[in-house]
Amino acid sequence: MPPDRLKELSEMDQRTPHDAVEAALGRSTAGALGRKGGPHSLLRRALRGFIHFFSYHLILSRKNIRVSHAAGFRLLVRPTVFHPKFFISSERFAEFIDTLDLSGKLVAEVGTGSGILALAAARAGAKLVVATDINPNAALSANENAHGNGLGDRVTGVCMNLLAAIPPRPLFDVILSSPPKHAGEPKNLADRGWHAGPAYRDISALFDQARERLAPGGRIYLMVSSDTDLTLFSSLIEKAGFGAREIREHSLVVESLIIYELLPR
Ligand SMILES: C[S@@+](CC[C@H](N)C(=O)[O-])C[C@H]1O[C@@H](n2cnc3c(N)ncnc32)[C@H](O)[C@@H]1O
Repeated sequence: MPPDRLKELSEMDQRTPHDAVEAALGRSTAGALGRKGGPHSLLRRALRGFIHFFSYHLILSRKNIRVSHAAGFRLLVRPTVFHPKFFISSERFAEFIDTLDLSGKLVAEVGTGSGILALAAARAGAKLVVATDINPNAALSANENAHGNGLGDRVTGVCMNLLAAIPPRPLFDVILSSPPKHAGEPKNLADRGWHAGPAYRDISALFDQARERLAPGGRIYLMVSSDTDLTLFSSLIEKAGFGAREIREHSLVVESLIIYELLPR
């Protein structure tokens, strides 16, 4: 194909010339996750900014403790903690966890917020769930909610960065995470539920750390958005030595929520 035509085509569909060549050869450059997510167009970026503006001011920045009912749990949601009812991702992921048999499993959840996913894992049979969050109010909420829902003997919330402060043993059978879905500097602690820093700085070590902590036969369940930079996530996942399989997609019209299973290669 003449170089000018190739450039023209790649500009039209926003692929790089390299990607256009790969596509023309029938090869995918989408990486482990099999897709290239991210709000590519100006319009999508504007829509994303609009949704964040309202979510931040109306939900993330609230100053009072709320009581919420989500996924069959009664949850106290402290200020700055990711709200499990207003943000639909929480219940969709909890519904998926309900389909798993986690009987007797050791589970870790990274970025627990109110603890909703950790509680769902305990309800699915997990022997013990360690639920981490960078936000101390989230770790506190997870503990309060575990006790409030009769699961305090099996769910423990701890404030830490990813899995960094967990002792090297025991290893986990399952690691769950619904990390912040967007790149960009968070405004404050509350906004860390949404933004993970430029180039996902705050969670980029997640997959390497998880690889170190997984028991033989273990797996990760990860929720991302179609607006997440899936190309970047793919490279982090591949670098950590995982392969990925898409398990579920939930369309929200403006974006999709996608759950992947990651297995060590
Ligand atoms: C999208 S929210 C998900 C919350 C909860 N799992 C749910 O589904 O409702 C992401 C969570 O990750 C936490 N988080 C962000 N960066 C983190 C990090 N480096 N280590 C641990 N938690 C982090 C945020 O505080 C937030 O609670």
